[in-house]
Amino acid sequence: MAVDLLLGLQWGDEGKGKIVDVLTKDYDIIARFQGGPNAGHTLEFDGIKHVLRTIPSGIFHENSINVIGNGVVIDPVVFVKELEGLDQFNIDYKNKLIISRKAHLILPTHRLLDAASEASKGKAKIGSTLKGIGPTYMDKTGRNGIRIGDLELKTWKEKYRSLANKHEAMIDFYNVDMQYDLKEMETEFFAAIKTLKELTFIDSEEYLNQAMKAGKTILAEGAQGSLLDIDFGTYPFVTSSNTTAAGACTGLGIAPNKVKDVYGIFKAYTTRVGSGPFPTELFDEVGVEMAKVGREFGAVTGRPRRCGWLDLVALKYTCEVNGVTQLMMMKGDVLSGFDSLEICTAYKYKGKTIKHFPYNIEPENVTPVYTKFKCWSEDLTKMTETSQFPKELNDYIAFLEKELEIPIKVVSVGPDRKQTIHR
Ligand code: GDP
Ligand code: IMO
Ligand code: MG
Repeated sequence: MAVDLLLGLQWGDEGKGKIVDVLTKDYDIIARFQGGPNAGHTLEFDGIKHVLRTIPSGIFHENSINVIGNGVVIDPVVFVKELEGLDQFNIDYKNKLIISRKAHLILPTHRLLDAASEASKGKAKIGSTLKGIGPTYMDKTGRNGIRIGDLELKTWKEKYRSLANKHEAMIDFYNVDMQYDLKEMETEFFAAIKTLKELTFIDSEEYLNQAMKAGKTILAEGAQGSLLDIDFGTYPFVTSSNTTAAGACTGLGIAPNKVKDVYGIFKAYTTRVGSGPFPTELFDEVGVEMAKVGREFGAVTGRPRRCGWLDLVALKYTCEVNGVTQLMMMKGDVLSGFDSLEICTAYKYKGKTIKHFPYNIEPENVTPVYTKFKCWSEDLTKMTETSQFPKELNDYIAFLEKELEIPIKVVSVGPDRKQTIHR
């Protein structure tokens, strides 16, 4: 069987966790392909909200196998806290959560390096979640990293010490004011590694390819969003992995010709957390209202998310880069009752009107051009089928489908699993 991908088309937090959970019943395996605990994927059902960081969002389903792929970076300390969260709900993760030997480990010193790097940047800081993501991927590509499979070797602690020593020297080099107790962090880290080692480590690319041959269905789960992709995002205000469709191939060992559907997920508006350009950002009461109604606070850091209108120029770009075959629109319910809605359909770029996403979208170069829409006033959260949709919502959806030339197959009208309408 083939693999389907699900990934975010904006700057993250589109609702990936919710939709993976909804779709899991149709798949045998859910496989996370990149990122680390910078992600916060929220699922809601039976009146309970769960936030996952590294663990795939299929974990609450009894029969799904959840794979953490080679492209992921794992912080044992955060990971063990996630497991403890699952223990409260008696989730049998020992039998359905497996980890790639090729996934890289986030060390305590990676977190410190992240903090030192950000502190050294001052106003130009990325707004990182400070989970050690950048430094860990730097060690991966620099060929210095420690992988999950190394934990099976007797010599791994020597490798650890040598890398941590090097990191400490690098932290000194940054010459920023930082207080930390590495001994204490290491005690927590080594205790977490012990728990981590109770789980199953596998050659996940082999596992997934054999599963496909045996007719199993796989859904690959992305983290972050396409505009945070290391190559195609708003560099340098991005994360350190390929969040786009190609990242699923390298992050799982799945060949491109095995990919079938690419589900692209987006909010009916736009949000961003952290620094970096955001052409349609709203600084008025409309933006404040979106943040309030949409509860736009980061699932990981609790930081307020910046809010703005939907950016079709950016969305077209990310649909193209990912080869999206089906769209899913989230949080339409949040927009109910606004005076009117706007969609950015072009940019004024250095005096010209353009429709493609340019190299530089800094505010001094780009001004959004908007098309205005009537807003719906109905509460969407209780709706269960498309026949109940107000005309204005149908018009909004139809416009997007026409512009993007991709069907919107799912409309999400609330955070709960049940508040999901298939079209
Ligand atoms: P992810 O990182 O893409 O998984 O998204 P997050 O979990 O970080 O952020 C999405 C937030 O929106 C979470 O709090 C979800 O519970 C919530 N959410 C998801 N879909 C909807 C929706 O259709 N309407 C509303 N109001 N909230 C939603
Ligand atoms: P999910 O999977 C939203 C942002 C950070 C920062 C930049 C770099 O929940 O959608 P990093 O910690 O990677 O060094 O941060 O990327 N960021 C996210 N924003 N959702 C996420 O994940 C994010 N993961 C990282 O805020 O701007
Ligand atoms: Mg999130």
